[in-house]
Amino acid sequence: IGEEALKKIQEAADLKELNDARVAYLGKKSPIQAAMKQMRDMSKEERANFGKISNEVKQSIAKKVEAKKAELEALALEAKIQSEDIDISLPSRRLPAGSLHPITIVKNDLENLFLGMGYEVAEGPEVETDHYNFELMNLPKGHPARDMQDTFYIDENTLMRTHTSPVQAHVMLDKIANGGAQPIKVICPGKTYRRDDDDATHSHQFAQCEGLVVDKNITMADLKGTLELFVKKMFGEKREIRLRPSYFPFTEPSVEVDISCGNCGGKGCSMCKGTGWIEILGAGMVNPHVLEMCGYDPKEWQGFAFGIGLERVAMLKYDIDNIRDFYNDDLRFLNQFSGEE
Ligand code: PHE
Repeated sequence: IGEEALKKIQEAADLKELNDARVAYLGKKSPIQAAMKQMRDMSKEERANFGKISNEVKQSIAKKVEAKKAELEALALEAKIQSEDIDISLPSRRLPAGSLHPITIVKNDLENLFLGMGYEVAEGPEVETDHYNFELMNLPKGHPARDMQDTFYIDENTLMRTHTSPVQAHVMLDKIANGGAQPIKVICPGKTYRRDDDDATHSHQFAQCEGLVVDKNITMADLKGTLELFVKKMFGEKREIRLRPSYFPFTEPSVEVDISCGNCGGKGCSMCKGTGWIEILGAGMVNPHVLEMCGYDPKEWQGFAFGIGLERVAMLKYDIDNIRDFYNDDLRFLNQFSGEE
């Protein structure tokens, strides 16, 4: 029986067959167990001898089972490792890459352009105080120009900023707090809010980029030269600008800046409503009262400032006619900008 059992165990091809063999030779119904029942009818010596032999047989079977089990398990592990082999030369699956949002592209372009002219980038809070958004921008309570910049109020003195102009005040007052008046050359891109009814050209949330230069002997010519450079770099060498007199409480004098129409080259077409020009931004010389409120002596310091709508720039640059396209997250729209940086 013992030899037969050892042979069966040795031949077991897998763990299941091995277990079957173990049950057959060591289980309650095994021939060894049956043989041991006959021990009752044996003489004392016979019984001792038989018991000894059958125990030895059982032990050698159990030993063999353990050895075979270890062998089969090692084989199974080896097979598993072989089947799960990783081929590092296999080309990986391509991960789908998104594209930059057109507003982000325009913001990056603006930043790179002005960084190249020696400007720094400054940021301010979107949740702003009445003081910074209006008072320091020379728009005291009751000022009629506040009507054009109605916004969302957090409480009586806290609001969603209506323009990036309050960052001008942050930058100037920061200089004053850190050692006194210093020349300034910054742009301040960021989100802005207004209580407008949304339509094809208006959105209650939009993006602007402020520009502020404060130094000694700054003139309107510096402003014009800077804007000309910006327009040519952003839209192409052929584009011209013109300044029209305008009004902003925080600049004096103030101008509205137009860019020659890229569609008709200034002759007049439907895109520029026959005028040859398209309005692009507001600008002016920093109002002496603003300089004063922000700690800069206007007898010593002058500055210019401008505010550009990023959606407007993107719409002109990419020929987009509905501002809502920027916010609808339609992949057919957004995918057109993949590959742009
Ligand atoms: N803050 C103005 C606006 O939002 C734009 C502007 C900025 C005009 C700086 C002049 C100077 O309309």
